[in-house]
Amino acid sequence: MYLITGASKGIGRLLFNHFTGKGLKVFGTYNNTQVEESNNLSKVDVRSFEEVNNWVSSLLTAEKPDKLSLINCAGISYNSVAHKADLQKWEDVISVNLIGSFNTIRAGLPYMREINHGRIINFSSVVPQKGVIGTSAYSASKAGLWGLTKTIAIENASKGITVNNINLGYFNIGMIEQVPEEFLGKIVAQIPVGKLGDPGNIIQTVEYLVNNEYITGTSIDLNGGLY
Ligand SMILES: NC(=O)c1ccc[n+]([C@@H]2O[C@H](COP(=O)([O-])OP(=O)(O)OC[C@H]3O[C@@H](n4cnc5c(N)ncnc54)[C@H](OP(=O)(O)O)[C@@H]3O)[C@@H](O)[C@H]2O)c1
Repeated sequence: MYLITGASKGIGRLLFNHFTGKGLKVFGTYNNTQVEESNNLSKVDVRSFEEVNNWVSSLLTAEKPDKLSLINCAGISYNSVAHKADLQKWEDVISVNLIGSFNTIRAGLPYMREINHGRIINFSSVVPQKGVIGTSAYSASKAGLWGLTKTIAIENASKGITVNNINLGYFNIGMIEQVPEEFLGKIVAQIPVGKLGDPGNIIQTVEYLVNNEYITGTSIDLNGGLY
């Protein structure tokens, strides 16, 4: 069974449709985007552990899967140089990207440990590797995922659970749509492969991590050579 946060748009939606299309059991969340609520798509604010835990526990109790993959796609960004940053917006990025990812992991881990199987995949970014002006909150939230991943991976390695990140460069999907055309051109010019990433590469990498039991506590850099 697959649990995917941020399944209303972008990468989360892509993965939700991909795994659903393969006939697998997939459940996703949305927050603000209007989507039709269904048995498979629930409104959950990942900042609230209570909401996350209700969503995860009710599904696990009803479905009792023997395999569980958790894919943390919910994310936001906030652009501001640090000396002018709005503190609330800064904190909100940490709450969604870092604490939100931990909330789902915290909710899913006890069950994964019971069934001796789990795949946890977080979406991190090239931004903290590279250093990009205006991204202190986003960068801190994504770098935080690396530490969290390493620790939780070794805590659960003997239980058939793997925990990894995909450090994305710039992809032709999702939040990239908010980037102004002019800035986008400058980004593409820096990518050694010479173009934005094709979303199919994300699907392929998620499948790779889901199907591999021996990669854990690390990140895959999926970025067209951009560092
Ligand atoms: N696209 C890229 O090139 C790229 C590059 C590097 C990293 N990433 C990372 O990949 C992940 C997915 O990005 P994306 O491009 O698909 O972004 P996106 O299209 O903006 O989608 C973000 C998703 O996060 C959900 N979300 C936001 N706040 C939430 C909250 N408080 N609670 C629950 N869900 C919330 C949104 O739900 P609602 O709309 O329903 O509120 C939406 O489904 C993010 O972590 C992002 O940082 C993306």
